[in-house]
Amino acid sequence: MAVPDVSGKTLSELISLRGRAAVITGGARGIGLAIAERLAEAGAAVLLGDVRAEEGQAAAERIAARYQVRALFAQVDVTDSDSVRALAQKAVQELGSLDIWVNNAGIYPSDALLEMSDEQWDRVLDINLRGTFLGAREAARCMIQGQRGGVIINLASTAGYQGGAGLAHYVSSKHAVRGLTKSLAIELGPYNIRVLALAPTLIRTPGIAELRQSMTASGAPDALGESFGEHLPLGRAGVPDDVARVALFCASDLAMLMTGSTLAVDAGALTM
Ligand SMILES: NC(=O)c1ccc[n+]([C@@H]2O[C@H](COP(=O)([O-])OP(=O)(O)OC[C@H]3O[C@@H](n4cnc5c(N)ncnc54)[C@H](O)[C@@H]3O)[C@@H](O)[C@H]2O)c1
Repeated sequence: MAVPDVSGKTLSELISLRGRAAVITGGARGIGLAIAERLAEAGAAVLLGDVRAEEGQAAAERIAARYQVRALFAQVDVTDSDSVRALAQKAVQELGSLDIWVNNAGIYPSDALLEMSDEQWDRVLDINLRGTFLGAREAARCMIQGQRGGVIINLASTAGYQGGAGLAHYVSSKHAVRGLTKSLAIELGPYNIRVLALAPTLIRTPGIAELRQSMTASGAPDALGESFGEHLPLGRAGVPDDVARVALFCASDLAMLMTGSTLAVDAGALTM
């Protein structure tokens, strides 16, 4: 099997996700929510999975009303394989298929190496790396069964290329997500499942706001403050929709011949 040649399609046909169903982990807020919104705007039915039930449920209801698509929420812990399997099953059973899976749930605490506990290390690797593996495995199983190919998008980071003080666990997890993306692309290509990753620079999300708060509360300098990004080639940090538009491109037929790569959404950070 090979991916189809879609060059005869119009631009609006290529970007359309009508008739497709997408799961977005960590979809209750931040980058995941923005991705869910753009996919829904393009016509996809969406299922948001998150540990945050109230925010997630409210987000799904807003999306359904705004974009006139089916939008559901399910509570999920991406570190738990039963929970992830149930999320994938729900997509197939209630949305009719599973075509797009976004492994977005992730955490980025700041922990200095010398004080880092085993539990702090494991938690970051569990959510960011094991969660991505579990999500990709369940998504691939359902997509292969559905026999219509699919797209898996993993959230890496510029930290998947660069080191960072206080971020040994996070940096390791995001480097690994890039490697995982390449391997999955090779294994799943024969099923017409494309696997891509995104590497954002700093994006202003609720998670980043919480990190800034905890860093300044502990007396650390506010390295993620408003001036972050001014030195970057494109002059600013990102907002969630900066990443969501690239995710939409990857999920759509516009990116039909792309798999295995990590797309930087970084204002040029990685060129420096
Ligand atoms: N914001 C940035 O600057 C930035 C930069 C590069 C990469 N990223 C990556 O983008 C992704 C999203 O980041 P964000 O800034 O939007 O974060 P956020 O904290 O604002 O949102 C993350 C969401 O994931 C959910 N989540 C966390 N653990 C979970 C679990 N075990 N199971 C299910 N859901 C869980 C949270 O409840 C939350 O709703 C992460 O993978 C992060 O590493 C973020």
